[in-house]
Amino acid sequence: MCRKRKMDISIGNHGVVVLALMLIMLVANGEEQRTREIGLGVILDIDSHVGKSIWVSILMAIEDFYGDTNNSTTVIVPHFRDSKYDNVEAVSAAIDLLKNTQVMAILGPQKSSQAAFVLDIAQRSKVPMISPATNPDLSPIRNPYFIRIAQASSTQAQPIAALVKSFGWREVVFVYEDTDFGRGPIPFLFDAMVNIGTQVKFRTLLSPSSSDYEILQLLYKLKSMQTRVFVVHMLPALASRFFKKADEAGMMAKGYAWIITDVLTGLLHQLDPQDMDSMQGVLGVKPYIPPSNQLKKFERRWRRRFRKEYPDIDRVELDMFGILSYDSIVGLAMALTRVGSELSTIFKRAKKASTDLAAIGTSDMGSKLLPMIQNISLEGMRNRDFEVVNGQLQMSRYQIVNVIGKGEKHIGFWSSRNGISNQLISQNQSSDYTTNKDDLGTIIWPGDTPRFPKGWEIPTGGDNILRVGVPAKGGFVEFIEASIDPKTKVVNASGYVIDVFKAVIDAMPYDVRYKFLPYENPDGQRIGDYNDLVYQIVLDKFDMVVGDVTILWNRSNYVEFTLPYSESGVSMLVPAKVDDSKNVWIFMRPLEMELWITIGGFFIYIGFVVWVLEHRVNKEFRGPPHQQVGMIFWFSFSTLVFAHKEKMISNLSRFVVIVWIFVVLVLTSSYTASLASMLTVQKLQPTLMNMSELKARGDYVGYQDGSFVVNMLKDMGFHGDKLKKYSNFKEYANALSNGSTKNGVSAIVDEVPYLKMLQAKNCNKYVMVGPTYKTAGFGFAFPKGSPLVAEFSRAILKVIEEQMRNISDKWIRDEADCPGKNEDVEPFDKLTLESFKGLFFVAGLSSTCALLIFLFMFLYENKEILVSHDSMHHKLTAIIQNFDKKKDLVPSETETVNDSNDYIEENIIGGSPMSPAISVYHQGEGVFSPASPM
Ligand SMILES: *[C@@H]1O[C@H](CO)[C@@H](O)[C@H](O)[C@H]1NC(C)=O
Ligand SMILES: *[C@@H]1O[C@H](CO)[C@@H](O)[C@H](O)[C@H]1NC(C)=O
Ligand SMILES: *[C@@H]1O[C@H](CO)[C@@H](O)[C@H](O)[C@H]1NC(C)=O
Ligand SMILES: *[C@@H]1O[C@H](CO)[C@@H](O)[C@H](O)[C@H]1NC(C)=O
Ligand SMILES: *[C@@H]1O[C@H](CO)[C@@H](O)[C@H](O)[C@H]1NC(C)=O
Ligand SMILES: *[C@@H]1O[C@H](CO)[C@@H](O)[C@H](O)[C@H]1NC(C)=O
Repeated sequence: MCRKRKMDISIGNHGVVVLALMLIMLVANGEEQRTREIGLGVILDIDSHVGKSIWVSILMAIEDFYGDTNNSTTVIVPHFRDSKYDNVEAVSAAIDLLKNTQVMAILGPQKSSQAAFVLDIAQRSKVPMISPATNPDLSPIRNPYFIRIAQASSTQAQPIAALVKSFGWREVVFVYEDTDFGRGPIPFLFDAMVNIGTQVKFRTLLSPSSSDYEILQLLYKLKSMQTRVFVVHMLPALASRFFKKADEAGMMAKGYAWIITDVLTGLLHQLDPQDMDSMQGVLGVKPYIPPSNQLKKFERRWRRRFRKEYPDIDRVELDMFGILSYDSIVGLAMALTRVGSELSTIFKRAKKASTDLAAIGTSDMGSKLLPMIQNISLEGMRNRDFEVVNGQLQMSRYQIVNVIGKGEKHIGFWSSRNGISNQLISQNQSSDYTTNKDDLGTIIWPGDTPRFPKGWEIPTGGDNILRVGVPAKGGFVEFIEASIDPKTKVVNASGYVIDVFKAVIDAMPYDVRYKFLPYENPDGQRIGDYNDLVYQIVLDKFDMVVGDVTILWNRSNYVEFTLPYSESGVSMLVPAKVDDSKNVWIFMRPLEMELWITIGGFFIYIGFVVWVLEHRVNKEFRGPPHQQVGMIFWFSFSTLVFAHKEKMISNLSRFVVIVWIFVVLVLTSSYTASLASMLTVQKLQPTLMNMSELKARGDYVGYQDGSFVVNMLKDMGFHGDKLKKYSNFKEYANALSNGSTKNGVSAIVDEVPYLKMLQAKNCNKYVMVGPTYKTAGFGFAFPKGSPLVAEFSRAILKVIEEQMRNISDKWIRDEADCPGKNEDVEPFDKLTLESFKGLFFVAGLSSTCALLIFLFMFLYENKEILVSHDSMHHKLTAIIQNFDKKKDLVPSETETVNDSNDYIEENIIGGSPMSPAISVYHQGEGVFSPASPM
């Protein structure tokens, strides 16, 4: 009892107020209205700011409610007990209130751990407990007598996850208080992070009683890890110390992101200005209470009231718990006006109770009151919603704030329907759930920077500077050249690759600091090849490698590559032949030699066949032998330009000639087309057509020193002796101009970007030929699993799409600089025998058939000679004599050989490939017109 007296003394001040209040009410109501006093137990840590805030709100709510309503049959009488930051104190206060004061409801305690104990007693004695305890383990569903007038701390997992997702942070660290309050939301935060695919790299507990040294130790440990996003779930007392130490450890600097949870965000005003100084740039989430005039008015009244109650406290700020307690007391008072007057305010108790606990008994009113306060809706009462459903306060919106200066700045909202938004989206407005960082206002991050941190650091070195390995070679300087200033030791790198790299760094969404380190020995000499260079990443000498490093499967086994940023492929560059149009033998080029020979052979054969067929019947094919030989040649070659004037008399020879003329037509038009294209289009002629030709000729081949191409060439079957390595463009050019025979090479095989550069440097001298063998192009190399790979790849895509053209133009001169250059020279293909095989087959078959038919018929006509003569020799001479004899025919009609021949020639000169077809038709008429002789 001694303890209780002490308690009453401590709140004597308030007791006087309440008594005065009741007196006023009694006077106002008049004697006819009998008001029933309902006891409300209040258990708070009154030394805490929150405790005081809640207490002042309770008093104001009671005064306001009963001041407005003069016909209420009940009046709430608060009975205060101090729980002194202690669970057992809270429990004993609860037992005291229930047993001795017989309160009908309890407000408090404010802490989750205290609430857990008190709730069990409240539950047993059927007294509703209204508490702002946030630990989600205490569930109003499982404990019906628990009315939570705050958001469960698990609810904020969603807005925090949305915030993390909006900045694309892939890793976070949780730091939380080792209390019921602290542990409560952690599993929910975990789940939320899993849902957005973010990894919780580490979580660490910090006892509220940890020393500053322990805090600092923990912070240094966190600093040594690569994650830079921290979610801090603490009460202000620990948080102020924690952030001060974080500042000391240099972790409130550029590159770090801190997110604090709702309770701390809501109580930021409690912190000292010095504490706030060390929290600059921190992000926080807290339930959103919309501002209104009523709220402002209330806040003014509340401040006045607070000063009156606690005159010696100068920092006065109405917090969320004050507002919510006020509303819940109003809700409770309303419920009591409905049920209060009829019910007993005495606990049911067993007669003989052996323990204090058993002596409490159960409240009669509790079970009746409970349904009234499990669902409270004070809609519109204070121009905002206070809604409790099934014992849980409903607040669907969170506010995201940024700690700046002495306070916090609002930067956005989060709601379960719409995600992150910069404006409140009304309930009936449909919109998707989005988490876009652009919807947030301007954030000033730790280190006073507006650029958002990427969320992790390169896990090497203390200075967070990316060690960029570059090849130390002086050869292909247009691609990359790194040199160390001997005085300042500063590495100066330049070239196409470096320009791409710098553009990519600029395209990164955050700052990346880097320094170039050439891969060389202390004397500045180059060591190893590109495989070795890339392997230095595994040996932790570099954090990344930038260079003309081709993405290869072998290399990808131990490093990770970004997307390629260059053109890809391996091809062959050969010297171009000088302009062919001045060559005296150029007319021969369209057809290959076999074809020329075959055509010649056919002309003679066809001439011979026609002679045989016509000799007996046609005057023009007769005469002295030399004339006849001349005739054979003259006739067949004149068909070439369709200029043969001789009339055909035999039907067989007409057939042969007609087929042959068709063949000649196809050949001449193919020749014309091919020659024309050769003369107009082809300026550059490669000296070699493809790699197999190169291989077959056994010429020397050049490749780049240190490149993987040499392995490729060996795989393709080139002999090692035939391969020569070069290490700059000059050597390449010299080797090519010397040629294979003069200690040079016939071709260079390398990656397309190098070949293009070489080609651009030597206009019109080289041609790229042959197939391009697929390779992946150049990429940047990183250690396996580096988060930078994805970031760089995205930036590379941006650079490729937006400014690659400019970078390439700067380094790889365009073909525009080379007048008359055709970039992609198709190797000129001669017409081959192969393509005309069918044609020759038809011509050969038709003429041979005609010849055979003629022979058969001739022999049949002269069968008596075959029978009469006995010796073979005689037979043959007789037959030949007979063949040479002119066979008389009916003289043909006079024919007009029209002047179509002139017409043809004109057309050939005119170059129209179709015109011969027309002339054949005319010619054909002339040929076909005489009557058949056979
Ligand atoms: C309170 O009671 C007085 C007299 O009984 C009456 O005039 C006044 O309107 C009442 N006020 C309210 C808010 O009901
Ligand atoms: C008190 O008076 C108000 C109107 O002034 C009325 O609406 C309410 O029902 C009354 N309450 C009781 C308990 O009589
Ligand atoms: C409270 O509201 C919820 C949902 O509206 C309902 O399911 C529940 O039964 C209500 N509880 C009481 C005690 O009225
Ligand atoms: C719903 O939409 C209408 C019309 O757009 C608007 O007038 C009303 O205020 C909205 N209601 C709420 C609750 O936002
Ligand atoms: C780096 O090299 C480039 C080209 O070689 C040159 O223009 C530039 O001035 C050099 N920069 C420094 C700091 O040496
Ligand atoms: C693959 O890489 C290893 C390690 O650098 C190297 O020793 C090996 O020669 C490479 N193999 C090929 C085919 O390039």
